[in-house]
Amino acid sequence: MRFRHAVVTGGAGFLGSHLCTALLDRGTAVTCVDDLSTADPENVAHLRDRPGFTAIHADVCEAFDPGGGPDGVDLLLHLASPASPADYARLPLHTLDTGSLGTRNALAVARRQGARFVLASTSEVYGDPQQHPQPETYWGNVNPVGPRSVYDEAKRFAEALTMAEAGTRGTNTGIVRLFNTYGPRMRGHDGRAVPTFIRQALAGEPLTVTGDGRQTRSLTYVDDTVAGILAMAGSELRGPVNLGNPVEISMLDLAHTILRLTGSRSPIRLVERPADDPGVRCPDITLARGKLQWEPRVPAEEGLARTIAWYRERQQRLRMGANAA
Ligand SMILES: NC(=O)c1ccc[n+]([C@@H]2O[C@H](COP(=O)([O-])OP(=O)(O)OC[C@H]3O[C@@H](n4cnc5c(N)ncnc54)[C@H](O)[C@@H]3O)[C@@H](O)[C@H]2O)c1
Repeated sequence: MRFRHAVVTGGAGFLGSHLCTALLDRGTAVTCVDDLSTADPENVAHLRDRPGFTAIHADVCEAFDPGGGPDGVDLLLHLASPASPADYARLPLHTLDTGSLGTRNALAVARRQGARFVLASTSEVYGDPQQHPQPETYWGNVNPVGPRSVYDEAKRFAEALTMAEAGTRGTNTGIVRLFNTYGPRMRGHDGRAVPTFIRQALAGEPLTVTGDGRQTRSLTYVDDTVAGILAMAGSELRGPVNLGNPVEISMLDLAHTILRLTGSRSPIRLVERPADDPGVRCPDITLARGKLQWEPRVPAEEGLARTIAWYRERQQRLRMGANAA
C-alpha cells in the first residue's frame, strides 16, 4: 500500500530515520517530528534536500501540528521515545511524558487527519518474561517501580491509550511490539549491546559483557524491522503484533561474533549485570508471519557485517573531517 503523506514522530532517531528514507523511496512525502532529545541530527542530514521531506523540531509532549499539505496526512508512525536504557535512565520523566502525553497528542493528530496510526511499542512490555518465547497474548512480568519501569510502563500505557482511542473514537490504529533492532546509525554510546560491542572492538577496548553473558536477546536487522512496520501500516490489523527475530543469541556469543567479524583482539570483560535485566527475550512471530507475511530475512552475520562496515566508514569520515579542520 502506498501512502501520500506520512508523519514520523522520532523520525530523526535510529529507526525513524530509516523509516523516513524507506517511505520517501516509495514516493511518500514525509514530515519528521523530533525534539532531538536522543537523536543524532546527522541521521537525517541526507534527507534534507530530498523533495517531499520536511523536518519539524518539536516535542510531542506539547500539542503539535505537522501541517498536512494539500493531501493531508494518511499515516502517522509514532516512534518518539527514548529507547536505550542509558537514555531513559537519564530522561525518566521525559520518557513517561512522551509515552503518555506524547502518544495522546500523536493520536489526536491521526484522528484529526483520518490517518492510520502505528505505535512503535516494545518487547520490554514483557519485562523479564516467564513465558518463552513470548506470544502477544503474554501479559508480561514488569517491575513497576524498577529502574526500567519508566520505559516499560510508558509503553504499556501507550498501548492501552492506543487501544482505548480505537475503541472509543474509531481511530485506525495498530501496535507493533519491536524486539531489539540494530544497524547503521545507532549511537556508539547509547548503551545497547550491538553498538557498544562494535565501538569497543574497533577501539581495541575490552568488550563489556554483563553478568555471565548467558542472557539472550533476539536481534533484528533494521531493514527487516522497517519492512515489518510498513507491512503493519499497510494492514488493517490493530495488534499488538510482535516484530522480531526468533533466532536467539546470548550476549557472550554476540561479543565473540563481533570480535570475529571485526578481527579485533579485544578481550571480553564480564561486568555487573544491571537490575531487572531480562534473562531471555525471543518473540513468537506466528501472527506476523500469518497476517503480514513478514519474517526477518537478514541473517545476524550479514546484518552485523553491514553495521560494522558503517561504523568503520563513519570513523574514517570523522577522522578525515578532523584532519581537514
Ligand atoms: N531500536 C530498538 O531496538 C527498539 C526496540 C523496541 C522498540 N523501539 C521503539 O522504536 C522507537 C525508536 O527507537 P530508536 O531505537 O530509533 O531510538 P532513538 O533514540 O534513536 O530514536 C527515538 C527518537 O525519538 C525522539 N524523541 C524522544 N522523545 C521525543 C519527544 N518527546 N518528542 C519528539 N521526539 C522525541 C528522539 O530525539 C529520537 O530521535 C522508540 O519508540 C522505541 O521505543 C526500538
